[in-house]
Amino acid sequence: MGRTIVIANQKGGVGKTTTTINLSASLAESGKKVLVVDMDPQGNTTSGLGVDKEDDKTVYELLLGETTIEESVKKEVFPNLSLIPSNVNLAGAEIELVNVENKENLLKNALDQIKEAYDFILIDCPPSLNVLTINSMCAGDTVLVPIQCEYYALEGLSQLMHTIDLVKDRLNSDLEMEGVVFTMYDARTNLSLQVVENVKNNLDQKIYKSIIPRNVRLAEAPSHGLPITIYDTKSAGAEAYRLLAEEVIHRGEEEWQ
Ligand SMILES: Nc1ncnc2c1ncn2[C@@H]1O[C@H](COP(=O)(O)OP(=O)(O)OP(=O)(O)O)[C@@H](O)[C@H]1O
Ligand SMILES: [Mg+2]
Repeated sequence: MGRTIVIANQKGGVGKTTTTINLSASLAESGKKVLVVDMDPQGNTTSGLGVDKEDDKTVYELLLGETTIEESVKKEVFPNLSLIPSNVNLAGAEIELVNVENKENLLKNALDQIKEAYDFILIDCPPSLNVLTINSMCAGDTVLVPIQCEYYALEGLSQLMHTIDLVKDRLNSDLEMEGVVFTMYDARTNLSLQVVENVKNNLDQKIYKSIIPRNVRLAEAPSHGLPITIYDTKSAGAEAYRLLAEEVIHRGEEEWQ
């Protein structure tokens, strides 16, 4: 059975998109069939995977029922990795869907039709707790939360956990926490280490052992439309995301810290 992982944190710039792209690419590299869904109107995952944002069969048309799921999937943009793209039109979805019945489940209903074809579906969320994030959580099995190793890391996390609990109570009782992954870790500063310790002490969640370092190659890769596994396959960033992928694949088999 495949697993749908929602990458969420309403805080901006914490590494959701970088994690979506590179965890997906690492899973694909290890032979897993992966579908990436870009649920952010910014479309950073779409362009980061080298796909044109000027498409008229994106997740926006999919949610509005103007295209089919088959048409919206860009197949094998990289080996084993397919994508449902997004663009700025998606920003209007919240208002356009206001009166649509069961609007929280639009993405889930679409993905249910093709879920069987994939080992993993990864959904990149926008930096807000809006209808797009709720749709993602309704479609998901688990939520993976990237946390940036910076001073305000814990800010907003209780709100995110509360939202996950609400979705679990009212809309998707099967939703679970996948875990927390630290991003942009800077080994040269004490701050990164302190943030990791602080979050471990204050957050009663599964925390991945793989920590993503701050790595300039990770920041460069999207401008080339490539995941790190292809852009710089031997970089520290690529190695870190491969280790994370291993942990995600073996989730539950190992003891969590
Ligand atoms: N490990 C890393 N090392 C260096 N730069 C990184 C790393 N992770 C992310 N970045 C850079 O930090 C910025 C924010 O990352 P990213 O876009 O992944 O965050 P996000 O949570 O998706 O942001 P948003 O909330 O706007 O969607 C980007 O410029 C990205 O290239
Ligand atoms: Mg993003």
